[in-house]
Amino acid sequence: MTPSDTERYSYKARWLHWVMAGLIVLAYALILSRSLFAKGTDLRTLVVQTHFWVGLLVLLMAFVRLAERHRHTPPGITPPLQGALRLAATLSHYALYAFLFVQPLLGVFTVLLERGGLPVPLTSLSIPAPFDISKDTAQTLEHLHVLLGTIFYYVIGLHVVAAVWHHFVRRDNTVRRMV
Ligand code: HEM
Ligand code: HEM
Repeated sequence: MTPSDTERYSYKARWLHWVMAGLIVLAYALILSRSLFAKGTDLRTLVVQTHFWVGLLVLLMAFVRLAERHRHTPPGITPPLQGALRLAATLSHYALYAFLFVQPLLGVFTVLLERGGLPVPLTSLSIPAPFDISKDTAQTLEHLHVLLGTIFYYVIGLHVVAAVWHHFVRRDNTVRRMV
């Protein structure tokens, strides 16, 4: 049975959710695969720089997504969630939205403060930083970026487990609203 559009997230919200989920998986896969390539090789540089730009795309799309979220309140879950479950769902969604902004911003400030510019893949071009290099601050931000990246393996993992639980155990319409 296909749910009617009034029972689902808007088309734009669904499209953004799945494309951004794909981009986030790609950002993780790229940065984790860098160790497959020797330091200083062109391929490693490309993989790391593509990580930067995929992450930046996530940041740009996050603004569009937040605007869409303000325009359209999602349809409720049937049967509705109560108490602690409802609170957990709300809190995890706030955390996921925050991650879409904070994680790329930490990354971009790390690169700008460390290198004085954001490199453009496959070229020798670099978008200059509007401030001076500060290696110490860059290092602190990079630590936070890696820490948040690690914490969100679990948050995103729980989010996916929750979706599976809703669909196959609770058998409600949570997932159908997002597809
Ligand atoms: C959705 C967005 C992003 C996610 C999920 C993400 C995730 C991660 C993770 C998990 C790591 C640590 C990898 C490890 O364990 O070694 C990492 C490293 C890093 N990321 Fe990101 N990142 C994102 C966006 C960005 C952006 C936009 C930039 C810069 C423009 C950036 C710059 C970096 C840098 C400089 C490192 C350290 C790389 C190294 O040690 O060689 N990230 N990122
Ligand atoms: C295979 C992976 C994923 C699945 C199966 C999935 C599934 C879902 C489902 C079913 C919903 C609707 C939940 C509800 O309304 O209560 C949802 C909402 C949401 N998802 Fe995912 N998701 C996945 C990956 C991701 C990723 C990687 C992110 C971002 C880091 C993300 C961020 C969000 C956010 C912020 C919402 C709340 C939307 C809103 O109410 O405005 N999801 N997801």
